[in-house]
Amino acid sequence: QKANDSISRFPLIPIRGIPLMNYIANNFDSIQAFRPDPSDIFIATYPKAGTTWTQEIVDLLLHNGDAEFCKRAPTPVRSPFLEMFSPPPIPSGLELLSKMVPPRIIKTHLPFQLVPTGFWESKCKTIYVARNAKDNVVSYFHFDKMNLTQPEPGPWDGYVHKFMRGELSWGSWYDHVKGYWAEREKRNILYLFFEDIKENPQREIERIMRYLDLSVSDEVISQIVELTSFKSMKENPMTNYSCVPATVFDNSVSSFMRKGEVGDWKNHFTPEQSKMFEEDYEKQMKGVDIPFRSLI
Ligand code: A3P
Repeated sequence: QKANDSISRFPLIPIRGIPLMNYIANNFDSIQAFRPDPSDIFIATYPKAGTTWTQEIVDLLLHNGDAEFCKRAPTPVRSPFLEMFSPPPIPSGLELLSKMVPPRIIKTHLPFQLVPTGFWESKCKTIYVARNAKDNVVSYFHFDKMNLTQPEPGPWDGYVHKFMRGELSWGSWYDHVKGYWAEREKRNILYLFFEDIKENPQREIERIMRYLDLSVSDEVISQIVELTSFKSMKENPMTNYSCVPATVFDNSVSSFMRKGEVGDWKNHFTPEQSKMFEEDYEKQMKGVDIPFRSLI
């Protein structure tokens, strides 16, 4: 099954220098005007950094690990994507949010400077998840191949350069991770790492629980660890994005729940690409102390 007429690889339009899908860019004023409730929980990430994983953890924490309740709808319906606008009849993130009662779990990929200021005025709890750059670009590459609304990724080598230049949807990874890092104290942002969740999900889920002022039993925490393992989420039709039709997500190319590992970049970067990427990384991340793992 191939893309039909209404679905196409949408062009990117820059908003304050950040390339965004045309549907998002064309609706940017209404996105900016969104007013969250102070009880809403905001999950911000660069694409492919572990958004869905975190959305599931938060939904389960909010509902005391109730697995059945958290299967009430697919991820993007339970936890709307703030800035998402698609061609009709797909409802926008704002439309979904308008029909929900707070506290809502709201997802965004917007860089810090494009987030509606209402989130900071309402002092919403905000969780940021960062993933190491090399695995992040690998995951994004596979996603762009299968997501038929994203620009054509082209060959891997060119894709890495587009990532380094900040030309992919939602802009520069470097500026994204730095932008939220710089604001984390002032805005009380819980800044997490994909690699930490992978290493010790219990520890990180407990951090999220404390940050959200929740208290669940050790038994429920263990249950959430199990329910949010890669295997469970890949098999769960409410988390694995099988809700998206094949005309949009072409699972014959790659699946949304692809590998879920740390270090998959080693299967993609040549030694030369790795060297070139690291040299550029040093420049772009100079003077920044974000504790990404150096050995991954
Ligand atoms: P890979 O492409 O490396 O497999 P996002 O939700 O931000 O789009 O991120 C998707 C990435 O997170 C994919 O990475 C996906 O497999 C991974 N992922 C999703 N759920 C996961 C889980 N429970 N455990 C580990 N990785 C997970």
